[in-house]
Amino acid sequence: MGITTGLTPVLSAHWDEPDSYTLAGYRRHGGYSAVAKAFAAGPDAVISTVKDSGLRGRGGAGFPTGLKWSFVPQNDGKPHYLVINADESEPGACKDIPLMMANPHSLVEGVIITAFAIRAKHAFIYIRGEVPHVVRRVNAAVREAYAAGLLGKDVSGSGFDLDLVVHAGAGAYICGEETALLDSLEGRRGQPRLKPPFPAVAGLYASPTVVNNVETIANIPAIVNGGADWFRQFGTEKSPGFKLFAVSGHVNRPGIYEAPLGITMRELLEHAGGVRDGHRVKFWLPGGSSVPMLIEEHLDLPLTYEDIAGAGSMLGTGTPMVFDETTSVVRAVTGWLRFYKHESCGKCTPCREGTYWMTHMLGKFEAGRGTASDLETIGSVCSQIAGRSFCALGDAAATPFPAAVKYFREEFEQGMTTPANVAFAPAAATMLPVVTR
Ligand SMILES: Cc1cc2nc3c(=O)[nH]c(=O)nc-3n(C[C@H](O)[C@H](O)[C@H](O)COP(=O)(O)O)c2cc1C
Ligand code: SF4
Repeated sequence: MGITTGLTPVLSAHWDEPDSYTLAGYRRHGGYSAVAKAFAAGPDAVISTVKDSGLRGRGGAGFPTGLKWSFVPQNDGKPHYLVINADESEPGACKDIPLMMANPHSLVEGVIITAFAIRAKHAFIYIRGEVPHVVRRVNAAVREAYAAGLLGKDVSGSGFDLDLVVHAGAGAYICGEETALLDSLEGRRGQPRLKPPFPAVAGLYASPTVVNNVETIANIPAIVNGGADWFRQFGTEKSPGFKLFAVSGHVNRPGIYEAPLGITMRELLEHAGGVRDGHRVKFWLPGGSSVPMLIEEHLDLPLTYEDIAGAGSMLGTGTPMVFDETTSVVRAVTGWLRFYKHESCGKCTPCREGTYWMTHMLGKFEAGRGTASDLETIGSVCSQIAGRSFCALGDAAATPFPAAVKYFREEFEQGMTTPANVAFAPAAATMLPVVTR
């Protein structure tokens, strides 16, 4: 077991400096030194280091990064591609966008090293379209990197060529699903593809492609510079390293806290100034709306992939949302289901129809008109969606309700007679100052 307590700013170490997003600001702290190290070591050595570090993907599923890279066939004569998933549209997830705003060069340096390791000459950063300021910032960093000879032909005199394109999506949550993202990047409507084949074998333009999350790739320069053992000092055996935990909701100081994996939610809450004054935790979600909620008794669990899974939830994007006792669980779950219904791409029946019916029935509980048989039907719709949908968006849609009813059944029973906005006054739950005239 490595360090699992305290804050460990590595990726976010210099975010408070006024020029942290510029090439000069990044270079002042050793930025781009890992590129030279990687070029000297060679692609296979870089893949081995990342494998040994145990880095797991920060996009939600926690898949081992080095292992993913090693699936790319070598000497196959095909072009290889690297695609950075910067879609970040999950409710509650807010870490990649701040990272790209504060230090886009850590991502660009990670892209150069990763592309070199998987032998790709073309890389893409796919950013959600609703954040034009982020698109501008990353584009500016890419322009600076080209001008400095870090991108383009013969990167830093190494003989390695790399072109990096920043692509803005049109704003759809499903385009964060890696194969829908690839379809969108190819100019088609973003809908998931059948897997296998997986992108590592047939991805962008049917060629071997690695799709990785922004935070995953921003870790690479630090790992190449520090080495696998240095990285493994942090976190646990199965969840090594540190993480950008974006804490939001009913806390006094919402924000990004970079800490080792294995830190507990209670400690993270202390860094975030605790639950807002005079209130207590009612429920919390470890990583976005797609993971089952947990309650106060889980606050001492280490935030690792394995411990959170052991408690019946998932670490997901590692962006905990905290809700106090003023929150209506019925309203929260109904809100998430409205999101999934809206974002369902419609390709498969369980998700397209199931999210529609669940939203409709949950709305009855929100309005105080639910029935006991509705409660059973929602549970059965969830079990018809989970594991039977074409992609993980369907599974995600089936996630909030079962945990909510497990911990707060009485609130759904209350929803058979009392509207949620009567049982829980919306003004009490808001974090915004209530203006009285
Ligand atoms: C509906 C849906 C949305 C997703 N959105 C994102 C996203 O915005 N960013 C991301 O990195 N991964 C997202 N993922 C996960 C990706 O499919 C993929 O697992 C990830 O980009 C792999 O990167 P990693 O191995 O570095 O975590 C999403 C998955 C689903 C099913
Ligand atoms: S599960 Fe939903 S989002 Fe995924 S393919 Fe089916 S309809 Fe589309």
